[in-house]
Amino acid sequence: MRWSHFIILQCLLVLIAVGIAYIHKDRVHLTKKPPESLAQWYKPDNKRQVWLHNMFKLRREMQAVEFYATNRNAELLKKWADSFGQHYLKMAEMVPEWRSKLDIETMSDLQAAVSNNNFQDVPRLLKNIGGNCQSCHTDYRAIVATMYRAPDFSSIEITPSTSYKEHMKELIKQVNQIKIVSEDGMKELSLSSLSNLQEGINDLGKTCSVCHQQSSKQYPDDKMIKTIANLEESLNTGTVKDQGRALGTLAVQACAHCHGTHRFAYDVSNIFANKPDWLKLIQH
Ligand code: HEC
Ligand code: HEC
Ligand code: HEC
Repeated sequence: MRWSHFIILQCLLVLIAVGIAYIHKDRVHLTKKPPESLAQWYKPDNKRQVWLHNMFKLRREMQAVEFYATNRNAELLKKWADSFGQHYLKMAEMVPEWRSKLDIETMSDLQAAVSNNNFQDVPRLLKNIGGNCQSCHTDYRAIVATMYRAPDFSSIEITPSTSYKEHMKELIKQVNQIKIVSEDGMKELSLSSLSNLQEGINDLGKTCSVCHQQSSKQYPDDKMIKTIANLEESLNTGTVKDQGRALGTLAVQACAHCHGTHRFAYDVSNIFANKPDWLKLIQH
């Protein structure tokens, strides 16, 4: 194939892709993904969240530079500006694809102002660098936190034969079973469902230590244990209204709280972790 044909073909493909995306623009959200080289600075490739810790240093150093420039303390200003410059440039070493996103010129101006004791120039230069920090954050901060720091439940299992998801389905089945049969007056069945639910909750509680330090997260905790006792009592002797209220409280304490943090973050991270499904995109 001749080069010109090849190039025309490439252009056509790009046009088709842009066209498809444009037609579906109301239903498709385009998000910039960070370069893959960032992964080496996060778990599981790295033991620590190196990128994030470099960020914390940058924020602290910026504050120190501003503080010592205002106080006209040349020596300490120099010390903090040095490390600020180092950690700023470290971003480009860590993720070379992001070198062009840095404002290296303004950083050199800042270093020069510090060397020459031009204290009065420092706030303006810092403000410009701050705008540069912000522009990268607008594009990437949220997606990076979601992709690399959301708890990952994909490899957690309850037993070798029960996946996390299967266990969740079992838990909700018990919750709804209690609701259905208590409303319909089948006391024995509602109590046995509660005892199944309680067992399921205990089994789930054994998996918290995969990520949390042993015994730092108690599940079920004291509040849940009390609610379970309340629910049992009302299933035995209470009104349908009491039963509904106790079950609702348990569902919030035992399920919704965790879903609001762990499941939510995990679900969102999966959206970005999965490769785009073009077939699905076109079908929309
Ligand atoms: C090239 C992109 C980029 C630039 C430039 C950049 N950052 Fe960041 N920053 C990020 C990303 C990505 C995150 C999200 C990291 C995470 O959540 O693990 C982040 C997060 C942070 C956080 C943590 C946010 C929080 O409150 O939890 C701080 C603080 C921070 N950056 C400070 C700075 C400062 C100060 C500068 C400028 C001197 C800067 N960053 C420049 C990409 C950048
Ligand atoms: C896949 C890993 C993972 C599992 C499994 C997990 N968590 Fe978490 N959890 C996290 C992360 C990450 C955070 C946020 C930061 C932190 O506290 O370390 C968090 C935060 C929390 C918080 C809020 C912050 C705090 O420290 O109070 C609670 C409460 C919590 N987890 C409870 C639980 C309970 C209860 C279980 C088991 C039923 C559990 N987690 C299982 C990863 C996990
Ligand atoms: C450790 C936090 C945690 C607790 C506590 C928890 N869940 Fe979940 N739940 C999750 C996560 C994470 C998922 C997503 C699992 C996945 O998609 O693989 C999930 C998914 C689910 C699902 C959807 C399953 C599916 O078919 O995709 C249901 C239903 C569910 N949970 C019910 C419950 C009920 C009922 C309780 C309380 C008795 C509960 N969960 C307690 C974290 C938790």
